[in-house]
Amino acid sequence: AVERTLSIIKPDAVDKNVIGEINARFEKAGLQIVAMKMVQLDDEKAGGFYAEHKERPFFKDLVGFMTSGPVVVQVLEGEGAVLKNRDLMGATNPQEAEAGTIRADFAETIDANAVHGSDSTESAAREVAYFFGDDEICAR
Ligand code: CMP
Repeated sequence: AVERTLSIIKPDAVDKNVIGEINARFEKAGLQIVAMKMVQLDDEKAGGFYAEHKERPFFKDLVGFMTSGPVVVQVLEGEGAVLKNRDLMGATNPQEAEAGTIRADFAETIDANAVHGSDSTESAAREVAYFFGDDEICAR
């Protein structure tokens, strides 16, 4: 089925100047970018996005990292977009990510791991709505 998934290009990847290279991977895999903006998150916006991790020991560092510089938030659309994006990203920990994945190629640590992608269609619906209004998503 055609799905939408939320993608975030994190501050480390923005800092490395690889936004375009990451977007090229999405497009080459058949995913279309149907919404995209660059934003500087604050503690409230980043903390709300990762609310499910609030009790985890890494929460504070995660919010600190995600607010350390601008991020690119985007909606990717395509056949099986949620899983397709997860395959493109590779494992959460770049040290465990398969060769050729975004995290293996552009990330070094589990905190600075280049990209975020929704883990299910349910998360995707919630995460897309957290960042984008319906009028900001361009159906194609
Ligand atoms: P992300 O997909 O953005 O969702 C939560 C983030 O927390 C994750 O990517 C990692 O960057 C970060 N993180 C840090 N430590 C851990 C951990 N032990 N397990 C899972 N995620 C972690």
